[in-house]
Amino acid sequence: MANLNEKLETHECDVIVIGAGGAGLRAAIEAAERGQKVAVVCKSLLGKAHTVMAEGGIAAAMGNVDPADNWQTHFKDTVKGAKYMNHWRMAQLHAQEAPDRIRELERWGAVFDRTPDGKILQRPFGGHTYRRLCHVGDRTGLEIIRTLQDKVVHTPGVEVFMECTISHLLKDGDRVCGALGYWRENGSFVLFKAKAIVLATGGIGKSFKITSNSWEYTGDGHVLAYDAGAELIDMEFVQFHPTGMVWPPGVAGLLVTEAVRGEGGILTNSQGERFMSKYDPERMELSTRDIVAKSIYQEVKEGRGSPHGGVFLDISHRGAEYIKKKLPSMYHQFKELADVDITKGPMEVGPTVHYVMGGVKVDPETCQSNVPGLFAAGEVAGGMHGANRLGGNSLSDLLVFGRRAGLGASDYVKGLSNQPKVDDTDVEKAIQEMLAPLDRSEGETPYEVHRDLQRVMQTEVGIVRTEEDLKKALTDLKEIQARAEKVKADGLRQYNPGWHLAKDIKTMAKVSEAIARCALQREESRGGHTRLDFPEYSNHWSKHNSIIRKESDGSMTVSTAPLPEMPPELKKLFEEEKH
Ligand code: FUM
Repeated sequence: MANLNEKLETHECDVIVIGAGGAGLRAAIEAAERGQKVAVVCKSLLGKAHTVMAEGGIAAAMGNVDPADNWQTHFKDTVKGAKYMNHWRMAQLHAQEAPDRIRELERWGAVFDRTPDGKILQRPFGGHTYRRLCHVGDRTGLEIIRTLQDKVVHTPGVEVFMECTISHLLKDGDRVCGALGYWRENGSFVLFKAKAIVLATGGIGKSFKITSNSWEYTGDGHVLAYDAGAELIDMEFVQFHPTGMVWPPGVAGLLVTEAVRGEGGILTNSQGERFMSKYDPERMELSTRDIVAKSIYQEVKEGRGSPHGGVFLDISHRGAEYIKKKLPSMYHQFKELADVDITKGPMEVGPTVHYVMGGVKVDPETCQSNVPGLFAAGEVAGGMHGANRLGGNSLSDLLVFGRRAGLGASDYVKGLSNQPKVDDTDVEKAIQEMLAPLDRSEGETPYEVHRDLQRVMQTEVGIVRTEEDLKKALTDLKEIQARAEKVKADGLRQYNPGWHLAKDIKTMAKVSEAIARCALQREESRGGHTRLDFPEYSNHWSKHNSIIRKESDGSMTVSTAPLPEMPPELKKLFEEEKH
């Protein structure tokens, strides 16, 4: 039996930022610059975040390459790409503020590729009317993280806690008052007392078998927020990036950046047909991700796939020198992992779970959830990208709303009249829950449960869905949740990945239920959500968001909320286009 009486390491701060990807770091910088004492707590090492997987660029209407670009066109592209399901105000703020966030990054040291006259170079990407993606070859996310990391360690008032997982949020009445976590290395617990919390934990990809996401992506923030009483919105909208590696099996799902298509890459099927001409003849390979992913799915299903179950993507016509300069990571990735030289021939690619558009429902101005003091930014927040995210909009999202969350949390803290208090019994209960898998004398390993969860999500809640499959998924998920409650973690708390997974599997099973419930409720096909039994857009569903809530008896319910109405001056932008 683990010792509950060990002295609990405790830290006090104004704002805890959970997650150190772009959104978390940008939030921490903002809150600290506004005088708050900030703790950044991250599961992994500082600098190692999924932000690096947005490789091809960051979208902002700078107009450096196409001077006609402006925020209004970026706004319209984002709303159309999202199939009109986003919160209009988030899309507006994003389009208006993204250029300033890029200029700020540049001041902080980011080195972007350049036009001949020295401006930031911008490339085309799917669904963007103009060449809009500022980039650093195919390593844009990495450059952004590197810059923010450098800035954050030089910002007074920020302390970074690495390799520390937050397992529970703590509340004093309605409002948040802290978080409990554990050090991944030695398994000892750590308490953070705080007045506000910013969730910036990213996505949920590890609930699926084929994903571009790394091990950290287990839906932590979604479930921490849900358990604390926050509403989740539109969880059915999961993005299948059209191009992940399909072979060899050990790297299946690894991202093949959209920049390959942005730089002129061509998709063909086993018959050598450039099949996008059937699905989106105008935009071809630069159609939106939902359409390209479903087109690939269709080609494979109808027997025109590549030998390993994908299609072909060819950029070799651009020549070796160009490819190595503009897509160096892709060149090395295929050479080293698949023994394929992409300067000489095609790659094999297929859809991979990359992003979740759904997340914590937040106020667009402040990023605060319905729980006082709880904020969310980046992938863990919902509303910005509706039913489908345009490539490159995640990096700009996390800077725009990371800053806003830091600002919102800082204003919230300044407005508090008294300090919330942590209740020791809540902490003890949370520790008991965490230790349970180590204390069990028997039980299956969490690895088996995780494998089964991934299979259920991949096959029953995947790129195409039906009522029958989704109902089966919900039954299967109930069983998986029951198994997850009973897993046994062998060994001690030190260096124990089985114990870490015992916690993560419960989180993944819960977030998966939220996805499946919303997917069953939405009887239409839109963006990342395709129902074979409801293949069309529905008028009713075009006006409704899905809402997930935790009820007082602990059960999960799904309902709807009306989509916020776009004001006339923004609606007019779409009408003007028709004339
Ligand atoms: O394909 C990519 O480079 C990914 C970009 C993104 O997700 O925004």
